[in-house]
Amino acid sequence: MPTAATRPRLRVDRRRLHVDLRRQASALCRRPRPVQTSGMSKERHMSLGSTTITTDPAVPRHGTLTDTARLLAANSRDWLARVRLSAEGRWYERLHRDEDREIWLISWLPGQGTGLHDHGGSRGAFAVALGELEERDLDATRTLVTGESRSFGADYIHEVRNASAAPAISVHVYSPPLAAMNRYDLTPSGLVKVDAEEAGQW
Ligand SMILES: [Fe+2]
Repeated sequence: MPTAATRPRLRVDRRRLHVDLRRQASALCRRPRPVQTSGMSKERHMSLGSTTITTDPAVPRHGTLTDTARLLAANSRDWLARVRLSAEGRWYERLHRDEDREIWLISWLPGQGTGLHDHGGSRGAFAVALGELEERDLDATRTLVTGESRSFGADYIHEVRNASAAPAISVHVYSPPLAAMNRYDLTPSGLVKVDAEEAGQW
């Protein structure tokens, strides 16, 4: 998902955005957490007096990519403190990587998007943790709201953007870990590859 897409400059009302984000972050914290006690790889938090320090998120060892994306999206306390917003473009941070999978957390301000891209041969899934995202593939456009997810195969090409008026957050899982990504334009004569990126460029 992470790409170095060219993005239009955004005009952001920072004071209103701050208020909106606080309200939505508060809603995330109030959301009941699903009970999940088996198959977790790491301790979630360390308590230090009244302070809670976020450690590596609890990544299930088993289950589908969609299961993992949905579980992590629902367990916002594992990653909420890491989230940042950037008016310059989507903010993203890798939450986890092993030989089999790679997991990214992404925040999207209104209007921010990826452009059409593939995943270099990796399969993947993503889940909306906050707000809503619009996903367009070569056949259809759909809106995903908080709690919803999509999965895709190795040849999938799509575009994801925040078409709403509020910030959004999502969790993305890829297997094998992303090694490359190609970017495309959809022209009247068809799909045209316009750029290629390799891991390390994002
Ligand atoms: Fe993607």
